[in-house]
Amino acid sequence: MLETTNRYTIRRGHESEDGIAADNYYNMWLDMGTRPEALEDNWKEIVMYRIKENRKNLKLCTIVIVNDCQEIVGSAICQIHSSELLHPDIMKRSVYQAGYLWGVFINPECRNKGLGKKMIKMCTEYFKEIGCHEAKLWAANKGKPIYRHEGYTLFDDDCVQEMVLKIK
Ligand SMILES: CC(C)(COP(=O)(O)OP(=O)(O)OC[C@H]1O[C@@H](n2cnc3c(N)ncnc32)[C@H](O)[C@@H]1OP(=O)(O)O)[C@@H](O)C(=O)NCCC(=O)NCCS
Repeated sequence: MLETTNRYTIRRGHESEDGIAADNYYNMWLDMGTRPEALEDNWKEIVMYRIKENRKNLKLCTIVIVNDCQEIVGSAICQIHSSELLHPDIMKRSVYQAGYLWGVFINPECRNKGLGKKMIKMCTEYFKEIGCHEAKLWAANKGKPIYRHEGYTLFDDDCVQEMVLKIK
C-alpha cells in the first residue's frame, strides 16, 4: 500500500493530484519523441476528462512517487481494461477482468534509482485488489525493462493475437 525509501514515498494518488498525473501523461508522449505540434492543444482537458470518467466507471487509481519536499516526481495510472467503445464486452467480470496501465512517467532527475520498478509493483497490488486476472499495457522502449522485471511478457496467445494493417 505504501513504499517508503529514504527520500521517496510511493503511494496511491488523491483526486486532487490528477492534474499532475495528466501533465505526466503529456510529458511521457514528449519523452517518447512525439512533437508537441502533433498533440491536441486542449490535451489537458481531454486527459482530465478521461481520468475523471474512468475513476467513476473503471476503478481508475493513480500511483504517485513523492519526494521529501512533498513534490510528485512520477506517476502511473491503473484502471480496468475496457474495449466497450470498440466492441461489446460480454465476458462476465467474475470470469475474466484485465487491468490496464498507462501514463507511466518519472521526472528525468529521479530515474535509475529503482523507483519505476517499485511503482509498477504497487500497480500490480492494485490490480490484484480490484480482482484483475491479468494486466495489459503498451510498452515504450524505455518502459520495457521495468515491466519485464515485474513479470510482464509480450502478448502471445494461442487463441487471439492483435494484428495491424499499415495503410499506405
Ligand atoms: C520508464 C521509466 C518510468 C523507468 O523509471 P526508472 O525509475 O528509471 O526505472 P528503474 O530505476 O526502476 O529501473 C530502470 C533502471 O535503473 C537501474 N536501477 C534499478 N534499481 C536501481 C537502484 N536501486 N539504483 C540504481 N539503479 C537502479 C537499472 O539499471 C534499471 O534498468 P534495468 O532493470 O534494465 O537494469 C522512466 O525511464 C521514464 O519515465 N521514462 C520516460 C517515459 C516512458 O518512456 N514511460 C514508459 C511508457 S510505456
